[in-house]
Amino acid sequence: MLPGPTNVPNRVMRAMLAPIINHRSADFVDLYTDVVAKTQAVFETKNDVVALSASGTGAVEAGVVNMVRKGDKVIIPVNGEFSGRLAQLIEGQGAETVRLETEPGRNATFDQVKEAFDNNKDAAAFYVVHNETSTGTMVRYLDRVADLASRNGAFYVVDSVSLLGGSPLPVDKWGIDVCMTGAQKAVAAPPGISPISVSPRARKRMEERPPSTMYFNLPRYFKYYEESRHTPFTPALPLMYAYREALSIILEEGLERVFARHKACSDALYAGLGALGLEPFAREEDRSVSIVALNYPEGLDDAKFRGLLASKFKVLVAGGFGNLKGKVFRVGCMGEVGPYHVMRTISSVAAALAMMGVGADAQAGLRAAEKELAPLAP
Ligand SMILES: Cc1ncc(COP(=O)(O)O)c(C=O)c1O
Repeated sequence: MLPGPTNVPNRVMRAMLAPIINHRSADFVDLYTDVVAKTQAVFETKNDVVALSASGTGAVEAGVVNMVRKGDKVIIPVNGEFSGRLAQLIEGQGAETVRLETEPGRNATFDQVKEAFDNNKDAAAFYVVHNETSTGTMVRYLDRVADLASRNGAFYVVDSVSLLGGSPLPVDKWGIDVCMTGAQKAVAAPPGISPISVSPRARKRMEERPPSTMYFNLPRYFKYYEESRHTPFTPALPLMYAYREALSIILEEGLERVFARHKACSDALYAGLGALGLEPFAREEDRSVSIVALNYPEGLDDAKFRGLLASKFKVLVAGGFGNLKGKVFRVGCMGEVGPYHVMRTISSVAAALAMMGVGADAQAGLRAAEKELAPLAP
């Protein structure tokens, strides 16, 4: 139940036992064209996509160094570790950021974003973290941003490392120019592959102003793909097999059903853990469907609680980041998550709390969760 890497189904793990093939062979062409097609299906896009052999930060960095240059102005909401890192990356390119800072657990509102566009007609781009993994918030108005961005002629770039594949993010319908994710979160593959999609106009921009980096030079990936269906550099082949299998599992279940399952499971976790007396960290309208962050009851020892959960119940959850360390814990709700994971987590948390002398009504927790899981009943 970590906020990533998440559990990887056996079918995906087994896919890595394929022989190491020549990445300049017809076998690789078959594998990679399938990876690209399935990535496009999950991103709901016809845009170019690249599956980088890197963790999520690789795709995020590629999404910045290929797009942003010295002197560009970039609007970016900042409310946690990953949006902070993204802003730093952008500033590292010599760009000027217009930071829409909100306190952790709250997102900038759509009106604040609109106001920022109104006040910065010269903004070259809007960058946003879809799902702030450090605090369990998710932005719910990404379908309405393209209109604002296109009015200003700005590019629209989304870091959805911890959510894509678990909640709707139809890249073409929502007009997202560049979208990045990581395979180890809602896609439920092992860490090490990070896909990125690029719209035709963003691609043109990248080709006109190629980045100085070699490994993350996306135009180089487009060129290789078009000429030979290859990648410019040696890809992490076993991970590529695993990633393809994970995408196949999502597409077999169907995106709608996958999204409904994530939603029902997170509703159940919020309701069930809430009934145990644990309060979500994020404001209700901003709560994430893939990361459930909860405040610790006063005085509860973080390391001891998570240690008990892990050692006695084999349930792994994560602690807080930065100054939230010791104040919150985070439960991942992604990938293969289902009623079993939800109920087991709630009963284990109730038991661990009881072992630490905190009264928690396990029955009430399980009943509240069960109600939210009803939509998933066969
Ligand atoms: C929103 C977000 N962006 C970027 C990253 C970085 O990904 P990675 O740790 O795979 O490099 C993460 C990781 O949790 C994330 O949640």
